Amino acid sequence: MPCSPRPGAVLTYRPAVFLRDHCHCAECVHEDTKQRLIETFDIPEDIAFKPEGVREEAEGFRVTWNDGHESFYSKEWLRNVGLKRTSRAVERQGLVEPVFWTGSSIKSSPPSISYDEIATSPTGVRDWLYLIRTYGFAYIPNTPATPEATEALLNLIGPIRNTHYGGFYDFTADLAKGDTAYTQLGIGAHTDNTYFTDPAGLQLFHLLSHTDGSGGASQLVDGFGAAAELYEVDREAYEILSTVRVHSHASGNEDSSIQPVTPMPVLVHDEIHGHLVQVRWNTTDRARVDAPVEEVGKWYAAARTWTEILRRREYWEQLKPGTPLIFDNWRVLHGRSEFTGKRRMCGGYINRDDFISRYKMAAWGRGEALRQVAQG
Ligand SMILES: [Fe+2]
Ligand SMILES: [Zn+2]
Repeated sequence: MPCSPRPGAVLTYRPAVFLRDHCHCAECVHEDTKQRLIETFDIPEDIAFKPEGVREEAEGFRVTWNDGHESFYSKEWLRNVGLKRTSRAVERQGLVEPVFWTGSSIKSSPPSISYDEIATSPTGVRDWLYLIRTYGFAYIPNTPATPEATEALLNLIGPIRNTHYGGFYDFTADLAKGDTAYTQLGIGAHTDNTYFTDPAGLQLFHLLSHTDGSGGASQLVDGFGAAAELYEVDREAYEILSTVRVHSHASGNEDSSIQPVTPMPVLVHDEIHGHLVQVRWNTTDRARVDAPVEEVGKWYAAARTWTEILRRREYWEQLKPGTPLIFDNWRVLHGRSEFTGKRRMCGGYINRDDFISRYKMAAWGRGEALRQVAQG
């Protein structure tokens, strides 16, 4: 449990400019946009409370400053400011307790919520996103097998991300775009968008039809579960995959060459609270490992162990028209086996920040979400 200081103790923090900067009054913070209105660096550096300028009330403390301004700090806000940074990060990320899974543990009852429940129940979107936060994926049975219904489903979460491949997509495998996804080839477990600084947070696939052929089973792997296993069995490999950076690129389109702002490790952690927040794993889009060539062997050895774990944890399922699959692209890897015939597939990406924002709003409501923002 985080230790919670007495709320009044925060008022002793110095320099007091921190408290003055966080005044919540209508002069200092816009009531509708919640944006800061004061110019922080016009506040005198030696800002301080007036002598006898602090008055305790039932809900908080009223403070008069030596420049005449008056502020009110609720006890709840003061208590939360005093919390450890780690517990605040848990709120900011909308973290829930994840359930790790393997192919054999999840196959018989994968997380699933019907289209009707999402579309009609007042708690439908919340329950849906909670499933995705908990398991990293969910099926949505009873969805009309149309691009329109699928796009509407994505729009319930947030804006569909536009990329060099387009926004909402609806395609039949024909290599119209320069990427293996548009072929009939099998694709090993991977996360998408390692070539972006900010990979998409969610991806949805909806198989609309598959005619004149067979194959094309989909696989998912719980990347966080695999990372937890790696941490247990080979701490050094975990450390290497968390620190050695890897270059990635998307160069298949004639008119683009995309790379992230900096090479990123396979396992990305929140630098403040230390939790694993993102898995970036894409063999096809990997460029060089960012290590001196005489040290690069260590990365390959660690990545081999990681791959063995991923392969043991694969979960395979045949996608069906009417049952889209949505998954957390920062946690769950996906792939598919090769297929014959024509597959028509639609879907799209949603940014991670939009996904978490929607989750927090649906789970907590705006009031609670904003209280958390105020605490940083
Ligand atoms: Fe993919
Ligand atoms: Zn104010």
